[in-house]
Formats: sequence, structure tokens, C-alpha cells
Amino acid sequence: MLKKRRSLIDPGDFTVDELYSLLKLADNILKQPEKYSHACDGKLMASLFYEPSTRTKFSFDAAMNRLGGRVLGFADPSTTSAAKGETLADSAKIVSQYVDLIVLRHPKEGTALHFSRHADCPVINAGDGGHQHPTQTLTDLLTIKSYKNRLTDLKIGLCGDLKFGRTIHSLVTCMSRFENISFVFISPDELKMPSYVTDILDEKGIPYTETDDLESSMADLDVLYMSRVQRERFVSEEEYERLKDVYILTNEKLKYAKDDMIILHPLPRVNEISPEVDKDPRAVYFHQARYGMFIRMALIMTLLGFNEEVSPYA
Ligand code: NCD
Repeated sequence: MLKKRRSLIDPGDFTVDELYSLLKLADNILKQPEKYSHACDGKLMASLFYEPSTRTKFSFDAAMNRLGGRVLGFADPSTTSAAKGETLADSAKIVSQYVDLIVLRHPKEGTALHFSRHADCPVINAGDGGHQHPTQTLTDLLTIKSYKNRLTDLKIGLCGDLKFGRTIHSLVTCMSRFENISFVFISPDELKMPSYVTDILDEKGIPYTETDDLESSMADLDVLYMSRVQRERFVSEEEYERLKDVYILTNEKLKYAKDDMIILHPLPRVNEISPEVDKDPRAVYFHQARYGMFIRMALIMTLLGFNEEVSPYA
């Protein structure tokens, strides 16, 4: 079981055993959500979004509400004391006097860690710039585990903006801890996987290939993870316009894929998956969004010290 009062900043903060415990709890909640509807009665969560979000904010807020807890926070930092010049360290200290748990999204890399060092309650990183997005990774793990029934022995293709895609950095570093995983990185040269991620794979001797060709990579993938070109992280709008439609997944391209391959996408989608693909049984990205709420329920309960082994919910 996880220790109480821990934060989640990076997927590496949980051991593989702890990840499996979280997935198990999420699966229990998924099967019998009503059993957990009062698990967080009387608890208060702050959701502080210094950067726009729909899915992540809604799924956290929905998760806490479905556990019987309450949520306060903001989605627009211009309405807060940050606009008056308050430091993040002070905001962390203050907000953590009011609530039991903080969910933070911020455009600057490293902010979640900094915030957690000053807060007196657990902090969950809901995305720090182009760096990490651990709860999307938990979502991805639950989706893969549910459809493939394993988190080992997988060939995973990641396609699109591998440079700025924080969900991709988190997923690859996290999956590198499971047995017999290999990766295919599909991107134009300008959007290649950063070396801080490939260095980890090199150190561990985990196989990966890099290519710019989606069709020819498809045939032996178990998972295809599509991603949006991250417009907000580009310095040049012209460069974004040139690269934004470089990959568009269509039914035609899927002819090369295995019948049991699954297609993931953290969403929002722009053009990278044609809507015709939504009807393909391999397209699981909308279910993935739903799984995101259940794994966040499991995470909130765990960080608030809920212990299934001794609880009336077990
Ligand atoms: C992702 C993110 O915010 O990084 N979205 C999400 O959390 N579901 C992916 C993206 O914005 O492209």
C-alpha cells in the first residue's frame, strides 16, 4: 500500500507494484462505482489550472464528486492572487491550509515539484508544460491493461509530436519499467523524442526505432498512440502550420495494422485521426477518456490514505 500524504509528480513516483495496486483499485471502482460513492465524504480537493484544460479538469472534478468529496479551484489564473504577484510557493502553502489535496496544471516545466515542496498536503501533477503528465499515463495504463490484459510484451508505436507531447514522455518513461516492451517513435525530424527520454531507454537497453513513416510502422504494433501537434509550445506559428497535419490516421492506413491493435489518443484531437476511424473497434480513445475518471478516483483515494485492505469498501 502507498504511504499517506504522498504527491504524484512523475509516474516514477510509484513503484510497479504500486501502479498495479492503483489499477486494481480503479478496476474495482469501475465494476462497482456505487460502493465508493462516499469514500471521500468530507474531503476537499483544490483543482488549480494555470493552463487550459477540459478533459483533465473535468475528469478530476468528476472523480472527486463521484467519491462524495467536494472541489474548489479555478481554470483561469487571471482571477487569482497570482495576478497580484503572489509566488507559487506562497500559493501552495496557503491553498494547502484549506484543502486535503491539490491538483495542479501549469505551463512551466517543474512547477508541480516546486509546488509540492511548499504544500502541506499531497499535490497531483496534472501536466507541467511539455514535461510530464502522470495521470494521463495512469489512464493509458488502465486502458492498455483493460484491452490487452497485460502491461508487458508489447510493441508500442507513438506518433506525432514526440518533442512537446508530455503525455508521451510520461508514458514512455513509465512503460520502460515493464518487461519486454519495445517502442517505435514516428515523427518528423523536427518533432523527435527528446534525448532525456531516449537516454533512459538507452541506459536500460530497451529497444526502440525512430522513423517518419506511419504506414510502414503499423504492421506489428500492439498499441498505436496518436498525438496532437502541440501548437501552444511552438515559438513559430509558421512552423506549426507546416507540421500540424503531417500525420492523419485513416481507415486506409489501418489496413496495415493487426486486428487486435488498439489506438489511443490522450485527446483533444485536431486532425491527426480522421473521424471515420472512430467506428473502428480498434479505436479506444473515447473509452480511454472514461477510464481516466476511474483511475483518478483510485489515485485520489490512495493519496488521501484510503486503504482498501482495512476499509469497509473492500
Ligand atoms: C493532453 C495534455 O494536456 O497534455 N491532454 C489531456 O490531458 N487529455 C494532450 C494534449 O493536450 O494534446
